[in-house]
Amino acid sequence: MDSLINKIKKQEEISNHLEINQKQRKQLWEQVNAFVDQYLEELPDAKAFNSKQLKSNAFQITGQPKTINAILEIFREEVSETGIRASSGKHLGYIPGGGIYTASLGDYLAAITNEYAGIGYASPGAVAMENEVLQWLKKLFSFPETAVGNLASGGSISNLIALTAARDKFGIKNEKIRNSVIYLSPHTHHCIQKSLKIIGLEDVIMRYVKLDDHFKMDTEDLERQIQSDQSEGLFPFLVIGSAGTTDVGAVDPLDEIAAITQKNGLWFHIDGAYGGFFILTSKKELFRGIEKADSLVIDPHKSLFIPYGLGAVLVKDANAVLQSNLYLANYMQDAFTEDLIKDPANVSPELTKHFRALRIWLPLQLHGIAPFIANLEEKLLLTDYFRELLKASGFQVGPEPDLSVSYFWYPFPGDQNAFNRRLLNYIHEDGTAFLSSTLLNDKFVIRIVILSFRTKKESIDKAMEMIESCLRKTKIEFGVIF
Ligand SMILES: Cc1ncc(COP(=O)(O)O)c(C=O)c1O
Repeated sequence: MDSLINKIKKQEEISNHLEINQKQRKQLWEQVNAFVDQYLEELPDAKAFNSKQLKSNAFQITGQPKTINAILEIFREEVSETGIRASSGKHLGYIPGGGIYTASLGDYLAAITNEYAGIGYASPGAVAMENEVLQWLKKLFSFPETAVGNLASGGSISNLIALTAARDKFGIKNEKIRNSVIYLSPHTHHCIQKSLKIIGLEDVIMRYVKLDDHFKMDTEDLERQIQSDQSEGLFPFLVIGSAGTTDVGAVDPLDEIAAITQKNGLWFHIDGAYGGFFILTSKKELFRGIEKADSLVIDPHKSLFIPYGLGAVLVKDANAVLQSNLYLANYMQDAFTEDLIKDPANVSPELTKHFRALRIWLPLQLHGIAPFIANLEEKLLLTDYFRELLKASGFQVGPEPDLSVSYFWYPFPGDQNAFNRRLLNYIHEDGTAFLSSTLLNDKFVIRIVILSFRTKKESIDKAMEMIESCLRKTKIEFGVIF
């Protein structure tokens, strides 16, 4: 026994290093906080994109301890100074949200307390908080209280949960797969096709619905295709609409799609990962019919500016969700309750999960909703402002956008795609602001996505200065000016 106790003590001397004392905590906190302060102070002038290469072995784990300052230096050089600076207000590409500071305080508390957020028996508070956030979302999108939901890591997993529920509602498996039909837009986010593959629906029939001039689903074409498939003896079961496409931010005619799905008994899923929260703004009317969906995805880590790692899904048919996710293992018997749908673990593939609710609940409580809405309205106005500046500089811009994604191109009379591609290369080399591109009917266009809470009028002015300087370089290269 003595020798056993001695052995334990010996290990304790080293294992205790993981439980640092108050003084050490204070020191570490101060150093990290000083780093954060400097990072945030420098952020407005920092480049939004840096094509610097990573050092080889920069992150090598030697197993030996390093000082916090050495670690922060690696972080600064190899993480924050490489690639896209996602926290920058001049990040105007893909779908930027920025990541509000106060959400990090929620993450900090969640990590320190390490609440087990998957099951109410383990952490009734964490789970009740998640359910309260979901309740708030249900109200916002006029979903019934009986709908179930989940806070997931992002839009991809949220969509996966919803599509799995649709699959199980209609029992799409085995020989039924090849006869079943899903309708979607060519602008549906690729995570949908990826989810369908993951959940075994790769071989369903996918019908791409025509788009109108504003890249919205043509509902006449949708209805025509459903009827034609039904008359051929196929099994249409799911329509996927978007409340804000990634390409151009288009909101599909949700109310009209809902009428078609209801008439034909199909599941209507809406991906509102990017655009969903614009329902809080003057654009509310575009979202008419969203409440009629069977399932809906919205991403607080996009249009609520929460740092990456927070998506949400709402599904009206609780049984369909439980069918996919509920598993009553023996070793979980102490945790079974009457109210299984209240446990996030029964509504998602995750069992142990990060206490995600806190990173949205805390900022909502601290700030109230008004600054979130003002930010969204501001982003809509800044999109108009950017488009005006672009037009004044000789660019052509896409049609008036539904939300805060738009696009532009320079009307070069020769190989227009090559010209605009080169222009974007110069923009990336410069890096002051970050923009991305897409192809629309084979035309190369540069996208602008204004969504970060840090994007202000000054950010747009700086981006415009950079674009004009890159345009000059491109013109010289293409012989437009000498
Ligand atoms: C419309 C839309 N849906 C889904 C996704 C995927 O979400 P996530 O990247 O959070 O997994 C995105 C990502 O940009 C998106 O824009």
